[in-house]
Amino acid sequence: MKGDSNSLAVRALGSISTEIAVPGDKSISHRAAILAGLSNGPCRIRNYLPSEDCLHTLRAMEKLGAKCDYIETNESGPIEVVVHGLRMQLKAPDGPIDCGNSGTGMRLLSGVLAAQDFESTLTGDESLSSRPMGRIMRPLEKMGAQIDGMGKNEGCAPLVFRGGNLKAIRYDMPVASAQVKSALLLAGLFTPGRTTVVQPAETRDHTERMLTKFRVRTVREGDEITIYGDQVPQATDLDVPGDISSAAFWIVAAAVKKGAHLLIRDVGLNPSRTALLNVLLRMGARIRDMVRTTDQDGEPAGNVEVDGADLWGTEIRKEEIPNLIDEIPVLAVAGALAQGHMVIRNASELRVKESDRISTVVENLRAMGADVTEYDDGLAITGGNKLHGANLDCFGDHRIAMAFAVAGLFAEGETVIRNTECIKTSYPGFEKDLKKICSGH
Ligand code: S3P
Repeated sequence: MKGDSNSLAVRALGSISTEIAVPGDKSISHRAAILAGLSNGPCRIRNYLPSEDCLHTLRAMEKLGAKCDYIETNESGPIEVVVHGLRMQLKAPDGPIDCGNSGTGMRLLSGVLAAQDFESTLTGDESLSSRPMGRIMRPLEKMGAQIDGMGKNEGCAPLVFRGGNLKAIRYDMPVASAQVKSALLLAGLFTPGRTTVVQPAETRDHTERMLTKFRVRTVREGDEITIYGDQVPQATDLDVPGDISSAAFWIVAAAVKKGAHLLIRDVGLNPSRTALLNVLLRMGARIRDMVRTTDQDGEPAGNVEVDGADLWGTEIRKEEIPNLIDEIPVLAVAGALAQGHMVIRNASELRVKESDRISTVVENLRAMGADVTEYDDGLAITGGNKLHGANLDCFGDHRIAMAFAVAGLFAEGETVIRNTECIKTSYPGFEKDLKKICSGH
């Protein structure tokens, strides 16, 4: 494994026999920074993810007035932070707030800013400025917020907020999106009365769990989540578990490699995030996950142990899609390395992620010799073709870069992935962990 600072070169893997701990969970880190900043006192966040996306969210809270003490930092940024909460009293920022590449950061912060009586602006990089923000603008406008999408296309960032004085609503989400749900729950926190979000399918529930941890009253009834407004989150300390979506790259690599043995320590095992494990088990993988902490209002976390095996394809069920949306690129790689057919449909949301992940996965798998069919809402793969090394782009998309680094571990010859700088948006230290995986111990 080599490459210059902005590309990765990967060759076939010998074996895997190692133990690894991945960095903190991205979804949980964003929420921790925001809720700690809104709370009524100092909150110590341990194992914060020092990725570009989460650093943007932390800086956003600082710009809104929350003082942050960086207790411990590594080469990428802070991993232990004390955020001094503002008791819901944010200050007007002195300029636009940059969310970088992060859809989660922008959508969650939108929920907060829509409820403030000062004007503010959220900006993002080119990719983020082309992603659909109408999905949060529409319901927030129903609550009474004024939001202008100033981007080149309608409903795109930069977003300008002239909010305040929201009214509680009940909202049926047309897409199953945890980001939309969370934006509305955060707006609802500032809004008198009951704000209810109805989700068309189960989505990750980190916001609800964390609100409970901060002793904010929410009620879950079937697909409906209600927040009671006008509450101040009560300061608390948080331990962020490892990110299962980052662990996914190594889980797949070990699962498809006969003779491999891998232990992943202290990773989040929230059931709204672990569909990847169910799908891999259905494909014949040998995986055991052991929840070690289950404090009632926190996040389940534990170890995942993987032994390599021969895998076969499977059909991903519609209801599984939101639960493994971020893992689909690497799951498609598993499909190409398995025997038989893998079918992924009902996944058109993939087209509006950091890249159009249906077309970028299809293009790169084909470049490596896989047999792939593209659909509007997904893809199908007939596994078993021997993959060959290729020179690939990752289209500025961190998960495409990492998924194809894994594919390269199983290809003949060298695979080069260009423009891999984006990996640091979610997984600083990926290259170091890739070396560890490749070294076999
Ligand atoms: C996220 C939700 C998902 C996921 C994203 C993180 C979150 O998006 O793709 O990486 O933290 O809420 P949607 O639920 O909007 O599809």
